Amino acid sequence: MNDHAMDAPYRPAALDKGTQGLIGKGIDRYEGPLKVSGTAPYAVEGAPEGTLYAHIVGAAIGAGKVLSIDTKAAEATPGVIKVIVEHPDFPSSGGSSREPMSDWTDQIDHFGQPIAVIVAESLEIARDAALAVAVTYETREGRFDPAEQTPVVDHKIGFLPNIVIGDVDAAIDAAEVRFDQSYTTPPHFPAALEPHATTAWWEGGDLIVRASLQVLNGARETIATQLGLDQARVRILAPYVGGGFGGKTGVGPETILAAVAAREIGRPVKIALPRRQTAALVHHRGDTVQRIRIGCDADGHIAAFAHDSVTSQKPDKGFLEPVHFGTIPLYAGKHRRFTTALTIVDLPSSGAVRAPGEAVGTFAVECAMDELAEQLGLDPIELRRRNEPETDPTSGKPFSTRLMLQCYEEGARRFGWDQRNPVPGQNREGEWLIGHGMAAALRGNFTVNSEARVTLTAEGRAVIETDMTDIGTGTYTVLAQVAGEMLGLPVSAIDVRLGDSDLPVSAGSGGSFGAGSSGSAVALACEDILAELARRMNAAPEELTLKDGVVSAGGRSSPIADLVRGKPIAAHGKTGPGQVSRRTSQASHGAQFAEVAVNAVTGEIRVRRLIGVFDVGRVLNEKTARNQMVGGMIWGIGYALSEEAVVDTRTGQFVNPDFGEYHVAVHADAPAVECHFIEQVDDQANPVGAKAVGELGISGAGAAVANAVYNATGVRVRDFPITLDKLLAGLPPV
Ligand code: MOS
Repeated sequence: MNDHAMDAPYRPAALDKGTQGLIGKGIDRYEGPLKVSGTAPYAVEGAPEGTLYAHIVGAAIGAGKVLSIDTKAAEATPGVIKVIVEHPDFPSSGGSSREPMSDWTDQIDHFGQPIAVIVAESLEIARDAALAVAVTYETREGRFDPAEQTPVVDHKIGFLPNIVIGDVDAAIDAAEVRFDQSYTTPPHFPAALEPHATTAWWEGGDLIVRASLQVLNGARETIATQLGLDQARVRILAPYVGGGFGGKTGVGPETILAAVAAREIGRPVKIALPRRQTAALVHHRGDTVQRIRIGCDADGHIAAFAHDSVTSQKPDKGFLEPVHFGTIPLYAGKHRRFTTALTIVDLPSSGAVRAPGEAVGTFAVECAMDELAEQLGLDPIELRRRNEPETDPTSGKPFSTRLMLQCYEEGARRFGWDQRNPVPGQNREGEWLIGHGMAAALRGNFTVNSEARVTLTAEGRAVIETDMTDIGTGTYTVLAQVAGEMLGLPVSAIDVRLGDSDLPVSAGSGGSFGAGSSGSAVALACEDILAELARRMNAAPEELTLKDGVVSAGGRSSPIADLVRGKPIAAHGKTGPGQVSRRTSQASHGAQFAEVAVNAVTGEIRVRRLIGVFDVGRVLNEKTARNQMVGGMIWGIGYALSEEAVVDTRTGQFVNPDFGEYHVAVHADAPAVECHFIEQVDDQANPVGAKAVGELGISGAGAAVANAVYNATGVRVRDFPITLDKLLAGLPPV
């Protein structure tokens, strides 16, 4: 086992040498042909013979009690195999990663809470029979409107502490220039295209689930606990996952209920949540109210920065949107206060959605910086430059790597920022008002325990095995690139096996730590293989040159397969956080630029251009990394302009729980999007030197759009999303 926790910087020489020429290269997706030909099996595809279909019946009230459930008519429906109610293993809602689920209860604390499962020969029969289940309830008054609840600051949930340094209030009072504004963001749905789904079956006492999940090891623990099984009796298969958005970091009720039904009936059972049920049974990002107060001098040097937020959660959950997470290392300022208060609601749980914290936090902070710049008569980039910290302004720790200033500069140049008119509402093309805005992007970087096995086969191929998932992010491809570069093999000589909980435990896909953590485990395993190959070549590892399956050293060379000598060489790599992770402040950075056109008559907003320049450490695959960033940036368009989960505060029901009424930005909304990287290997982050990629894309993207809308119109909307009704009254005369 080559176990290297990040107690010191680490940098495999073979990656820097780049002899095979794979690292960073934008090669096509390893599994791409399977996906485009429809042959990559997702969670409910290619189910075993005789698999039954199940549908979850959800509570039709938001708060109260189930008095009776009459299943007779449902059971009598031809094709219905079984109706399950009041089962002890019945989960009432999904959990964030490793959070325990609740057991069956007749107490309803959110709309759509599972109360029965119909298992039938077909999906249509199951859904039809669900309508025949007659339920009576006793309702109680629900806490459905977060705005009406009293926020608690000292709440003890969530992973992010409140932070108070110095005396923010006094410093703001004493400041030459004061800023104080509040911003609100609505509940935000994860929007993975593959349904949250599971096929479950039992082999003897062992449970096998094919599920759409991001983190297999955590999920195995949750499933085993919920079903009262030994973890060794649970196997999860998730070779292909059609997006996660954080919604699949934990285990959903569909996984547990499919397993329960399969055990009760003795046949495989599959459940795929319909989109409308996803809103109730999968966590969403909580709504936020964010107050930003800044005190600075007339030149914009910040003395005090306060980011005080409120977000909501249901009573039994441990997660709290870490709203101020991205604000902590962002700007200078001696006096600092970052708090996120909690309101308790009777709504489906809030949870980790892609870029928890930064996605919403940068929204408010980056709009506030834009407003403050105007108040000071400063260019928004100049204000940020003047407050760029040299070390982490909250912890005082050195940054591992931070190219924020370079991102501003490069982005401004590429975008043509110097052409922007800082006076809003001045730039017209016919009835369109044109505006330009920018924002900083930041996403914290984590390295998470991750293991991988790499085996060099007798044929000279490499096999990578880890329980890591690829949720559309490019994991298969980048792991193949790392191993190929380390061992001097083309990608065609590498087999990547992922998404099986029986394989070495990885970080899983979450928190943008997947590529850096699991890629490092692969690199470390390969270093052990290199050491063995060097022994067999009677050379030192650093003397080896490996390319296209041939190992050379000291003027001799040998096909790698010959060196294997018939007996596969297997190695195990492991990485994880360590002292250097704790001693340094680590994040990815970037600058986002947007050009928008706002119709002066209708208020319609079209985003015309987005340019992002990002500092993500070593880029492992330029194409898949860019794909992640561009996706996040486009997501930011929807976040700024259309995504809004609306709660009916009378019933606690989301009124727009589908893609028809809840609009995620699509191709038609996306203009020309450019993403550029400024690469600097971060050897304090992890052995492959790659920092967080996936979640950085949305960070700041919405704020850049919002700031551009302001620049176009002179109307500042602080209540997101920026829909045209909020603009119309303030638009300048046509
Ligand atoms: Mo993420 S919100 O850790 O997928």
